[in-house]
Amino acid sequence: MTEPLPSIVVLISGGGSNLQAIIDATQVGRIRGKITAVISNKADAYGLERANKANIPTRILDHREYQDRESFDAALGDLIEEFQPSLIILAGFMRILTEDFVRRFEGRMLNIHPSLLPKYRGLHTHKRALEAGDDIHGASVHFVTPELDGGPAILQAEVPIIEGDTPESLASRVLEQEHVIYPLVASWFTDGRVRLDESGVVFDDKLLQQPLKLDQISE
Ligand code: GRF
Repeated sequence: MTEPLPSIVVLISGGGSNLQAIIDATQVGRIRGKITAVISNKADAYGLERANKANIPTRILDHREYQDRESFDAALGDLIEEFQPSLIILAGFMRILTEDFVRRFEGRMLNIHPSLLPKYRGLHTHKRALEAGDDIHGASVHFVTPELDGGPAILQAEVPIIEGDTPESLASRVLEQEHVIYPLVASWFTDGRVRLDESGVVFDDKLLQQPLKLDQISE
């Protein structure tokens, strides 16, 4: 008998281009895993259509139907657990998460953030990088911990800022890199190559002193 593939649950709120990159990678076997559910807090998220096209079950959990953040997060956590995921992927899931929720899934929840963390946590990262006059911007895949965008980064892709860049032009080049680094880290996770322990991120049995950079790795 062949072993069942690890279950992956993806959380979205919007367009889901990162979700698409993960779907594509599972379909060609680059990620050893099966997306068992895509959950959105928004009924009109385009990512839900992407999931439908790939025959992946979808669920909508509208946060406006809950009294407070705690009760929404508790319901979301219960819904996620129905799919017994080895890995939970936040892919443009635009919600601040409670500490209880994060602790429930700590060590098996990843996020992608469009900046070279620890720079520019939160929103409008592209605009902020341009306003600061930075030469380099980028994206980070990190483990989720209770601090917003504060969990330890695993892999980063750098994107040079070029003359005439607008937040939009920069965002679209960063997004292209997101689609490279997110599936790669997901594959490392389900292959057991990366994990979170008390001291930080462990990759291939070595504690990372700093995040890996895409241009320095050979898979
Ligand atoms: C990406 O920029 C991601 O870094 C951020 O939200 C955006 C989601 O885009 N967390 P998409 O829905 O995956 O296209």
